[in-house]
Amino acid sequence: MATLQSACMILLLAAVVQCKDNLRVAYEWKEMDFKYENAEARWTAIENHEFRPDNVIPFGLEKYRSRMYVALPRWKNGVPASLAYFDTSDQSTKSPLLIPFPSWQAHNLAEPDPELVSPFRIRADRCGRLWVLDSRIAGVLENTTIFGPAQLLVYDLHNDDLLRRYKFPNGHIKQGSFFANLAIEDTDCENSFAYAADLGAPGLVVYSWSQDESWRVQHNFFHPDPLAGNYSIGGIEFQWDDGLYGLALSKAQPNGFATLYFHPLSSTTEFSVSTSLLRNKTLATSNEIYHDFKILGTRGSNGQSGAEFVDPRTEVLFYTLPNVNALDCWSTTNAEYSSDSQGRIYSSAQELVFPSEVKVDAEDRLWVLSNKLQEFIYDELYPGSVNYRILTANVVDAIEGTACDTKMKPLPEIVENELDKILDTVINKTNDIATGGVSASTFSIILFITAVLLSVS
Ligand SMILES: *[C@@H]1O[C@H](CO)[C@@H](O)[C@H](O)[C@H]1NC(C)=O
Ligand SMILES: *[C@@H]1O[C@H](CO)[C@@H](O)[C@H](O)[C@H]1NC(C)=O
Ligand SMILES: *[C@@H]1O[C@H](CO)[C@@H](O)[C@H](O)[C@H]1NC(C)=O
Repeated sequence: MATLQSACMILLLAAVVQCKDNLRVAYEWKEMDFKYENAEARWTAIENHEFRPDNVIPFGLEKYRSRMYVALPRWKNGVPASLAYFDTSDQSTKSPLLIPFPSWQAHNLAEPDPELVSPFRIRADRCGRLWVLDSRIAGVLENTTIFGPAQLLVYDLHNDDLLRRYKFPNGHIKQGSFFANLAIEDTDCENSFAYAADLGAPGLVVYSWSQDESWRVQHNFFHPDPLAGNYSIGGIEFQWDDGLYGLALSKAQPNGFATLYFHPLSSTTEFSVSTSLLRNKTLATSNEIYHDFKILGTRGSNGQSGAEFVDPRTEVLFYTLPNVNALDCWSTTNAEYSSDSQGRIYSSAQELVFPSEVKVDAEDRLWVLSNKLQEFIYDELYPGSVNYRILTANVVDAIEGTACDTKMKPLPEIVENELDKILDTVINKTNDIATGGVSASTFSIILFITAVLLSVS
């Protein structure tokens, strides 16, 4: 009986440990490369410095049907296209070549008014449109060139046509403005809203698709916490004071409006606000709504977070933690937001160095991009090692066994499933050793149920 008891405990331990390793690398690159018309065109581009492979770094991603879109901001010169995609149905390589989107021509900076300059985030909505937030600021790490105020571009994903181009009014642009993050409320395709975060002059721009108009919202919660600007990643220490950064929208709540979760980059606090307030221009730009913004709680030390995204089906908020090379989660159905109510999906000092982006696609797959950004900015990426990775997992598998696992709550379901497994094992075992198995397996089951009850409570 002692053997059976310990076998059961080992099983329990195995079940707990197994939950930790749930993201795998789907794509990886040493350097990003593009699909040129032919080898000669590629060499010409490299020779005249239009393409400098060491300067092309992926930052944002979006999976739509069989395409993975990648935003490649122009931190430096030599980025031939700042938005591209590859075909995920082609399984022949883990380092696919990039195809410029929507065309090479759209990225030609020699044009008087280039269509695309330097986008950081993109978002495909459920209506078949790709929203692109273009900062229109190139070369921030070399010689900064501002092509004009930030803009939103919306493409039709059925034919790649540009549906709309909306340049932010000059009044939205303040000293130091920098628009990098985007969320789209697409409950109603004809009445969709875009939310664009200004990290440099903290603020939020709300854009109405139906009115083709935008307004800028101010709030103190958009500002960085001066005590949370110290970073240390992979041996590189630096200080950032970025404001409003991570944006994530819940599914529509019973009143028809989503909840916008948000945080500044240099902060460890998470906030939220209902879009019912943001979508009304009069209200959103008045002082009346100050107290309707909510403080959810804090993630504790090293809890600075970058990109975030809510999976509408499980209602789990996924977010990146650059300081600890990790992806964490929090169930938005959880009333408590504290360091204890957060779940750890994955962390790796090799595969997740600077997790830059997180998304969930329409097929319930989680996608995470890591890009060693701190090395790119403050040091130099070594072209001989893998620098960029896209990791993936099924959402339900990813949250299994974490604090975000919604299945954890209805206890009978777990007991039933795990019981089957245990029963199988116990029966096999008893057959092997040919002893009176009934009382032994009953004892194991009781032991197991007790353990589950203890671990859940
Ligand atoms: C500065 O930017 C221009 C394009 O605006 C580019 O042609 C030039 O090479 C850049 N200079 C440096 C030193 O990177
Ligand atoms: C900043 O982080 C580094 C590395 O973790 C640490 O040694 C240092 O004390 C921190 N500085 C402050 C002011 O918190
Ligand atoms: C927007 O808010 C204002 C001020 O509360 C209110 O008077 C107005 O009716 C609202 N507009 C809409 C379209 O809900």
